Amino acid sequence: MRQLLYVSSRPMRIAVNIGDILHQSRRNNGAAGVTGLLYTDGTRFLQVIEGPEDAVDETFARIKADPRHRAVVILSDRTVTTREFGDWSMARPQDTDDEDAFDARLDRLLSGASDSVRGTFRGLVAARRAA
Ligand SMILES: Cc1cc2nc3c(=O)[nH]c(=O)nc-3n(C[C@H](O)[C@H](O)[C@H](O)COP(=O)(O)O)c2cc1C
Repeated sequence: MRQLLYVSSRPMRIAVNIGDILHQSRRNNGAAGVTGLLYTDGTRFLQVIEGPEDAVDETFARIKADPRHRAVVILSDRTVTTREFGDWSMARPQDTDDEDAFDARLDRLLSGASDSVRGTFRGLVAARRAA
């Protein structure tokens, strides 16, 4: 099984509806056997997708070509024996003013992830808060 982690940026002039992205993701990923996690701070996206090699290839090719984001950079691309992100077709930690509640939710979503992937998500959240 392949697991891919990338980061990207929202183009300044485009208003992105995250609900639309999640809706498309859940529908397609559910059918393709792809699962994962998507975090956005409103400016950047950090997403992990995992599943059968071909399904991840096809899904990522579509995602990469999407004009709703740019500068897509792969941070990690590896083979995993079991899914590390459970069976959510695409999970998303909801933004909230309550940082502790958000952190607890994110921890739960990352509980099966490798240290490096977990650190990358936490790092982006921390950078956002520090900004
Ligand atoms: C940040 C971001 C993450 C996305 N994640 C997924 C995804 O996990 N799965 C997916 O099928 N499409 C995802 N998309 C949408 C695809 O780029 C594409 O628009 C969609 O798959 C087209 O599907 P449709 O023709 O069924 O509407 C994402 C788009 C963006 C901008």
